[in-house]
Amino acid sequence: MNKHAMAPAGSEQERGRQAAQKLCDVWPDTSWIPDQPSLLWAEGAIQAFAKIIREQPAIFRASQRGAEIGASMLSPRLFQGLSEALQNADDVGASSLRIVLRREPRRELLLIHNGKPVSLAHVGAMVLPWLSTKADDAQASGRFGIGQKTLKALGGPLEMHCAPFHFAMLVALMAYTSPMHGTRCWSCLSIRKYRTLNSMML
Ligand SMILES: Nc1ncnc2c1ncn2[C@@H]1O[C@H](COP(=O)(O)OP(=O)(O)OP(=O)(O)O)[C@@H](O)[C@H]1O
Ligand SMILES: [Mg+2]
Repeated sequence: MNKHAMAPAGSEQERGRQAAQKLCDVWPDTSWIPDQPSLLWAEGAIQAFAKIIREQPAIFRASQRGAEIGASMLSPRLFQGLSEALQNADDVGASSLRIVLRREPRRELLLIHNGKPVSLAHVGAMVLPWLSTKADDAQASGRFGIGQKTLKALGGPLEMHCAPFHFAMLVALMAYTSPMHGTRCWSCLSIRKYRTLNSMML
């Protein structure tokens, strides 16, 4: 029996799982999403959302995969993703964005900001291309739901860490990952296997 099936009815994990299903069913209504879910709730939601994506018919998954791959080539500017990250940080009210190149314990570029924490609505829009939580927000500079995917020109997969949400955005998929960076106050986007400018120009 897998971990999902074992979550008892009424448990935090099960409530998170139900929220992932509701997110898919009632999008773009996200007004019901809790502000401060628990780790178990977030874990259940991410695992259930990943399962929903995995179980899509092949034709929809192929379309999603194509959109993702196309997004990484959208901009002729290799570092377009960094200005997209700045825009996304600004859109959630951040006053600081840090860019860190880490070599240990793994090579990754970290984009860390102190804006409003990630919610389940953001998780959905971060994972699926051409989906945005900002369509009705006149103040936000983001609109289309694709800017962040241009970061994939720099490496990947992308991982988001903002407690209690920790997940990897794989091609047409997602996965729950252990907390490694990020707190509730700092969102951390990791670009794994970040390639240097030199290696990209070879
Ligand atoms: N740092 C972040 N914190 C919280 N949510 C984020 C963050 N970055 C992205 N998101 C979520 O992911 C979604 C997709 O981001 P993305 O940059 O691809 O598109 P967008 O900002 O909506 O529009 P655009 O394509 O014009 O940039 C956003 O709508 C938002 O919900
Ligand atoms: Mg954006």
